Amino acid sequence: MKEKSIELLNNAIADELSAVHQYMYFHFHCDDQGYDLLANLFKRTAIEEMLHIEMLAERILFLKGEVRLKASNDVKKVHEVKTMLDMAGNMETSSANDYNKWANECSQNADSVSKKLFETLVEDEERHFNQYDDEMENLKKFGDNYLALQSIERSKNIGAGRPPVQ
Ligand SMILES: [Fe+2]
Ligand SMILES: [Fe+2]
Repeated sequence: MKEKSIELLNNAIADELSAVHQYMYFHFHCDDQGYDLLANLFKRTAIEEMLHIEMLAERILFLKGEVRLKASNDVKKVHEVKTMLDMAGNMETSSANDYNKWANECSQNADSVSKKLFETLVEDEERHFNQYDDEMENLKKFGDNYLALQSIERSKNIGAGRPPVQ
């Protein structure tokens, strides 16, 4: 029972680590292009994924396992906002699907705490999906104006001596 849970928890850490890397990569590039709102969304989500890693690692250590801190995927060098949001939405859906399955597996192995942990993560990943989906809708609705507005907002803040949007 323990070994199976440890394996699933480590698989989750590998996915979370890939998400942290990919979202920080998106953050740097949105920030570079002046899209503060998106840059901050990617950064905040990356930080939440990092906290997921912490929760998963704590559970592995409790089960006396070894934390395998290795990302499942290399960072994809995507610079276009629509592709970023597409990719991010897919990553969240796929994590939510996996965690739902793994929650069931943990339940079958009589590990209710790991099951609960996976269920908590599903809730967070669904919320992340929604945030990305909302931004994708905005992009579709307003097209390039949506991105232009973010750049203008940044210039206005700099001009007025205000700190950037957080
Ligand atoms: Fe996560
Ligand atoms: Fe997520």
